[in-house]
Amino acid sequence: MIPLVELQGVSKSFGGVNALSEVNLSVKPGEVHAIVGENGAGKSTLMKIISGALVPDKGEIHIHGQKVVFANPRAASKMGIAIVYQEPTFFPYLSVLENFFGGDELTSKFGRIDWRRMKQEATKAIEEFGLAPHLLDMPMYELTTGDKQLTLIAKAIYQQASLIILDEPTSILSQAETDILFNTIRRLQSMGKSILYISHRLREIFTISSQITILRDGQVVGNLTTAEATEDQLIQLMSGRKVEHSIYQARELFSGEPILEINEITLEPLFNKVSFRIRPGEIVGFYGLVGSGRSEVARALFGDLPIESGTVKYKGKPVNYNSPKQAINAKIAYLPEDRKQQGIFGIRSIGENLICVIMDRLSPKVNWLLNKTKERTIIEQYVRELRIKIAGINLPILSLSGGNQQKVVLGRWLAADPDLIIMDEPTRGVDVGTKVQIHQIIRGIVETGNKAVMLISSELPEILALSDRIIIMHEGRQVAELSRDEADEETVLRWAIGL
Ligand SMILES: Nc1ncnc2c1ncn2[C@@H]1O[C@H](COP(=O)(O)OP(=O)(O)OP(=O)(O)O)[C@@H](O)[C@H]1O
Ligand SMILES: [Mg+2]
Repeated sequence: MIPLVELQGVSKSFGGVNALSEVNLSVKPGEVHAIVGENGAGKSTLMKIISGALVPDKGEIHIHGQKVVFANPRAASKMGIAIVYQEPTFFPYLSVLENFFGGDELTSKFGRIDWRRMKQEATKAIEEFGLAPHLLDMPMYELTTGDKQLTLIAKAIYQQASLIILDEPTSILSQAETDILFNTIRRLQSMGKSILYISHRLREIFTISSQITILRDGQVVGNLTTAEATEDQLIQLMSGRKVEHSIYQARELFSGEPILEINEITLEPLFNKVSFRIRPGEIVGFYGLVGSGRSEVARALFGDLPIESGTVKYKGKPVNYNSPKQAINAKIAYLPEDRKQQGIFGIRSIGENLICVIMDRLSPKVNWLLNKTKERTIIEQYVRELRIKIAGINLPILSLSGGNQQKVVLGRWLAADPDLIIMDEPTRGVDVGTKVQIHQIIRGIVETGNKAVMLISSELPEILALSDRIIIMHEGRQVAELSRDEADEETVLRWAIGL
């Protein structure tokens, strides 16, 4: 069978960094082809080359056996290639409908834009993903991250492309949304369409793909059919080493006074009468479906959302932070869920992004040179510990791969050395090896017994591997608190979906 897309000897470098070298790849019609690899392995770069967003330095692209050169994404799209980028691109202030058609408006016989037909078509397309038609009239920025992502996927599919590239589509989707996406992928596959699928969640790779290509440091190090692959083998190929699975390690629990004591806090309609305590030395996991209010509770504690009623005590004293700055001064840190919007200073360097929270503390007045040295030591420590793949700390953060950008934001809050650290999806988008490493770091934080972690994650295995206690939220209410021994995957899920 002639492959739908074939790459031959594709190479690409940025400055001195070889992102891809001599990559060969062949995607057959009707194949769900997974691309796996560590953060910075070159996956997104490869996808951008296939979709015409980047031009390779070397090598050839063939579509249906014909050599092509894409000058831009439009050229690739004309050849039947659609992509949903890892960092979604859209016009925030245009309506969802305008974004959906983005330049390819439907016109009537007389050449006028046919809004009515556009709305009909877009409605059909987004309804497939369970999205309500009224969303089409909203400005794009008002959508939740998950809804944005689903809209962009629906748009890619609407284009009737023969190859659809999905670069980590599920990292911001809930389980239910992921299920809908997978059903759609299966349907597309049965229609003979091909999918290039990137994810760090190996479970997903095994569920949805038929073929797997493994990249390491810009090179293809393996190509397997999914049926013959095993998880351990993939990890070994990706990282070139063996990685231990992360499992819960019983720790000595500290029983001191709570570092945080929350009593019936409410902010309608986001959360209602939430109460819990966190003691120093504890990791408390928060689980719940998207929209259950976990992140909103976290933001309220951090002074990023108001609290209508109820009380918060931190280190024994009642507090009510009106801004994140106050919370940071009190040694509370918050790693936000949405790094792109809340986390990254795009034009700044990797080093500055890592160090920005503690800049004041390094007190520039005393000794500039000493501070510079200190700064560098701290930056280098986190680059090493978090396995951040960089060519230099003075490069802009936007030159990093998606996963490595996330690690920088995580490193920033770890460097701030907080007493209470709230982490919202700390391992989203990071590769399997780094994830285990980050789990060790999180355990390390509480080890001495004077710091605490509030962990929000939609990955149940992660919650179970780390938490000493698990609080489960459902539709803004706290529905259960389980001890380590009471918690297993099924029990937690049942509470979370409200059964
Ligand atoms: N615009 C750019 N400028 C400089 N370097 C870049 C640029 N884009 C990518 N790189 C580098 O190319 C390499 C591959 O990055 P890429 O984004 O393809 O990785 P990835 O496999 O998608 O990783 P992740 O899992 O973190 O998304 C990285 O070392 C990255 O820093
Ligand atoms: Mg990527």
